[in-house]
Amino acid sequence: MTTDAAPVANGASGASAFAPERPEDRWFMAAAIRYAMRHVGRTGTNPSVATLIVRNDGEGPRIVGRGVTALGGRPHAEAGALAEAGELARGATAYVTLEPCAHHGRTPPCAEALVRAGIARVVSAAADPDPRVDGKGHQMLMAGGVAVTRRVMEREAARTIEGYLTRHRRGRPGVTLKMALSRDGRIGIRGGGQVKITGPVSDAQTHLVRARHDAILVGAGTALEDDPRLDCRLPGMAGRSPARIILDPNLRTSPEMTVARTARSVPTMIATFETSDPQRQAALAEAGVTFVACVADPASGRVALPELLEDLAATGITSILVEGGANIAASFLADGLVDRLILVEGAVEIGEAGIVPPLDVAAARSRYRLLRQDVFGADTWFDFACEEIV
Ligand SMILES: NC(=O)c1ccc[n+]([C@@H]2O[C@H](COP(=O)([O-])OP(=O)(O)OC[C@H]3O[C@@H](n4cnc5c(N)ncnc54)[C@H](OP(=O)(O)O)[C@@H]3O)[C@@H](O)[C@H]2O)c1
Repeated sequence: MTTDAAPVANGASGASAFAPERPEDRWFMAAAIRYAMRHVGRTGTNPSVATLIVRNDGEGPRIVGRGVTALGGRPHAEAGALAEAGELARGATAYVTLEPCAHHGRTPPCAEALVRAGIARVVSAAADPDPRVDGKGHQMLMAGGVAVTRRVMEREAARTIEGYLTRHRRGRPGVTLKMALSRDGRIGIRGGGQVKITGPVSDAQTHLVRARHDAILVGAGTALEDDPRLDCRLPGMAGRSPARIILDPNLRTSPEMTVARTARSVPTMIATFETSDPQRQAALAEAGVTFVACVADPASGRVALPELLEDLAATGITSILVEGGANIAASFLADGLVDRLILVEGAVEIGEAGIVPPLDVAAARSRYRLLRQDVFGADTWFDFACEEIV
């Protein structure tokens, strides 16, 4: 909830209400949202936000400055855009995908920087749930004489910061569950190792989704059965591989497995009970694996997921892509911890002996809101919103 419904009467311009949207606002905001996607999954606990500075000297609008939240989360997008625009910022419009910040940290607030640079109008999209901002950024701008138009493509912009919103509102990272289903609705074969279900186009798409999350999580069953790499293998994007988390309460992961052998190049965490084998822990730690202690759910004896997610949020993880397997997927769904569900239906048939997932496309359709459906080669990609945050 924003608190800026009743803006303060303000300074230089004397404006006292939000300025109306103009026809070109959606073009530039759409461009800013696309630009913000560039650093999604790479800005730590800060959201990836973009700013475009646009001026019109009578020959049509042109972008004179652009910025996106820097890797790690600072500096903010506004700083980069203002630096690029320089004096051209004076009298220009700034498009920001999230309300500009209003609090003093190591740097002055972005709202203040926009006022100082002489920006005439700010068009913002998503509201910031951080209580230090939440409406105060807009108020600071208006008090400085800047016209403010808000909520332009708010929903679209909020989609780019879902993990950040979930962390603020629910105290845990945003969770996407992704499963590949065969044409006959199976996700693998017990004892059959990794089964190829999807084609190259959706595989590339999966790697893009990986790059946009802070961490990928799988259960011990998948780690042992598939010995997966769980990295981003798009050309030129190896550096965008998220951290890996293996949910392995009884520490069945061995140092010879791929995730352990490559733990020095891709951060790898194992969530395990404190009672798990200390010698194996030492051997895995030697390989570069780190550990998150987890507790058992008193009813099921399995890892208590809400507590684990809280602990992971405390380490700075804002978004998690859960990539299986069946038991892990079932637990996340049963606990209501899935915000987005991606199901990819391939053309392959696995047969009766295959592993049945906790839900199929028909069940997902009946329970959740379908955001997108795409055809990638022979596969169909379904993207559902489960726990609505936007
Ligand atoms: N098609 C796909 O998208 C896809 C994706 C991934 C995997 N798979 C397939 O799925 C199969 C593996 O699935 P799986 O069900 O055997 O293994 P899993 O779900 O990957 O792992 C299950 C294990 O995770 C541990 N665990 C910890 N906390 C848990 C919790 N809260 N709830 C449930 N489990 C918890 C348990 O280990 P302990 O038993 O030690 O307690 C449990 O046995 C493989 O065949 C793999 O190829 C398919």
